[in-house]
Amino acid sequence: PREGYGQTWAKTILIGEHSVVYGHPALALPLHELKMQAWAAPAAPDETPRLHALDYDGPLEQSGERFGGLRRAVEVTLKFLGHSGQGFHIRTVSDFPAGRGLGSSAAASGAVVRALLDAYQVDASQEDILNLTNEAEKITHGHPSGLDAATTAGEQPVELSAGNMRSVQPHGAGYLVIADTGVAGSTKEAVEGVRSRLQADPDGVGQLLDSLGQEAQEAIGDLEEGQMEPLGEHMNQAQDLLNALQIGHPQLDHLVEAARSEGALGAKLTGGGLGGCMLALAADEESADRISQALKDSGAKQVWAHQLVA
Ligand code: MEV
Repeated sequence: PREGYGQTWAKTILIGEHSVVYGHPALALPLHELKMQAWAAPAAPDETPRLHALDYDGPLEQSGERFGGLRRAVEVTLKFLGHSGQGFHIRTVSDFPAGRGLGSSAAASGAVVRALLDAYQVDASQEDILNLTNEAEKITHGHPSGLDAATTAGEQPVELSAGNMRSVQPHGAGYLVIADTGVAGSTKEAVEGVRSRLQADPDGVGQLLDSLGQEAQEAIGDLEEGQMEPLGEHMNQAQDLLNALQIGHPQLDHLVEAARSEGALGAKLTGGGLGGCMLALAADEESADRISQALKDSGAKQVWAHQLVA
C-alpha cells in the first residue's frame, strides 16, 4: 500500500436531531468550508502504528476511549480490504473543534476509512463507506442514526427519515450562522438521557419526539421551497422541544436569545446538545454579519457563517 488520503467535512443539523434516532425526519448539511483530513501511512513490520489526532500523538493502540471509534474505523476498513495484518500510522487534521455537535467523530472516522481505501487504491461504493463509518460511530455513541456519517461525507444536504436517506436541494436566500458555546457536550450522554426519559415516560416524551418530527417535516419542505420565515419559526419551536427533552444548556439558550434579538429568523441548538453549538437562520449576508458579531459579543468561542444556496 501507499500513503492514503481522505477528506470529509463538518456538518450541522438544521432540524430533527434526537427525534431522528426514533425514525422521525431530520435534515443535516455538510459545511464544505470546514474540512477534516486524514492520512494513512503503511507501518513497517517492526513499527508500532501511531496516531496523531487533536492533542494526541502516540501509539494507536494506547490512544484511549476518546479515539475508540477511530480505531474501530481502522479495524473494520482493513478487515473489509482483507489486510487486517497491515499496520498504519494515522494522522488527522481538522478545521473545526471536536465534541461540539459538528460531527467531528463521524467526519474523522469517514476520512480515515477513505484514507485506507485510498492507500490500497480501492473504489468502494458510497454504501460500503457509510457502513464502515457507522461501525465506528457505534463505538462513539451507542445508537447512531447514520445522519452524521452520511452528511460529513456528502456533497448535498441530506434528509434521513425512517432509515431512508435522500439529497435535498435548498432554495431561497439565507445564511446559517453557527456558534460554539465552548461547552463540551457528549452526544452519547444526550442520546442515552433521552432514551431513559422515554422509557420512564413513554407518552410524554414520545409526544415531544413526535412534535419534533412534525416540525422537522415542515421545515424541510420550507427549505426546499425557499420559505425562510416559516423555516425559522420551526427552528424556534424545535428549540423549545429540545429543551423540554432536557438536552439544552444555559449557554445555548443565551446565544439563541442573542441571535433572535439581533433579527435571526430562527435559532436553536444543533447536534447532540448539552453544550456544543447553536445555529441561527439569517435572511441575508448583512443580517448574518450582525448576528455573528452579537454571538461573539455574547461569549461564543467561534462563529461560522454558511450560505444556504451558494
Ligand atoms: C448528533 O449529531 C445527532 C443525534 O440525533 C444523534 C444521531 O443522529 O445519531 C443527536
